[in-house]
Amino acid sequence: MGLLGWTRRDVPSLAGKVALVTGANSGIGFELTRQLVEHGAEVVMVGRDKQLLDWAARDLEEEFPGARVESTAREILSTKLPINILVNNAGRFVDAPFCVTPDGFEQTLASNYFGHALLTLMLLDRIAASGPGARIVNVSSPAEQYATADLDDITLFQIMFNHELHRRLRLEGRDIDCFAVHPGMVATGLSNKVSFCHPSAVAIYAAMRLSGQSPLQGAQSALFAATAPQLRGKGGAYIGPLYATNTFHAHERYPVNRAAYDYETCVKLFNRTAAELARALGHDVPVPPAVGARVPV
Ligand SMILES: NC(=O)c1ccc[n+]([C@@H]2O[C@H](COP(=O)([O-])OP(=O)(O)OC[C@H]3O[C@@H](n4cnc5c(N)ncnc54)[C@H](OP(=O)(O)O)[C@@H]3O)[C@@H](O)[C@H]2O)c1
Repeated sequence: MGLLGWTRRDVPSLAGKVALVTGANSGIGFELTRQLVEHGAEVVMVGRDKQLLDWAARDLEEEFPGARVESTAREILSTKLPINILVNNAGRFVDAPFCVTPDGFEQTLASNYFGHALLTLMLLDRIAASGPGARIVNVSSPAEQYATADLDDITLFQIMFNHELHRRLRLEGRDIDCFAVHPGMVATGLSNKVSFCHPSAVAIYAAMRLSGQSPLQGAQSALFAATAPQLRGKGGAYIGPLYATNTFHAHERYPVNRAAYDYETCVKLFNRTAAELARALGHDVPVPPAVGARVPV
């Protein structure tokens, strides 16, 4: 442990662990995958472009001969692999004009929030059966602090869904810790994809390129949440660097937005999410029940 807190040198051996990382072909997801592989984990790399995933997996196999890296776009549910660590990282950001998916979701909400909520709920039993100390990590953003009172912000949804999921899993007695993390501002491919149709595009592009951390630094929060032994049993916590644009060190911290702690609103969001997923799929999704008294997160 460094003077300023945990660093990636503190990651324990991950031999025998299987991690699944979404958006693993680039940026934070790729660097996180690299760190997990370096410490001995087998990583299932998930993404929407099979060729990009294959290239990224090949790079890692060259860097770490003997590494167990699999790139897959959609066959996860049909495999029997255990999943000890799930990292919901894939995301887009002002990269296209407003658009609604055929399922009726705004496209960024669909990819950054609903897609991960569904993946998580579908994998819960598998994760729970994969052994003690499993982790679910939801990559959010420091933008949670700017979310408006009517809760229209995806990054805040991610934190609130994480709180409620963690609370329900504890009530069920499942040994899974769920964390929301923010990476700080990071100079990744996200900035290159910004659509200049967006009114804030130039400012966003300049800020990310000029003051963003490296993807390696940006991956630290998720790596800490996914692996640090001292976080066992501390699910529900929010992890990130202390300030948006620095640092090499990840910390437990608190969302700035008070709505993230509002129990009733977290429950409402969780139930509405499950209902929207059921509407889109045409059938219910498995959801841990909201029974029992509230457990503080
Ligand atoms: N960079 C930052 O400053 C920053 C700050 C706060 C939060 N974050 C969050 O960190 C996460 C990783 O972003 P990054 O900075 O590493 O950016 P990145 O390099 O662009 O990586 C994003 C990953 O998500 C995938 N992705 C994008 N849109 C998708 C969609 N509609 N469906 C499925 N996959 C999709 C990308 O796939 P393709 O390669 O095929 O596009 C890529 O694998 C995102 O959730 C982002 O919101 C980033």
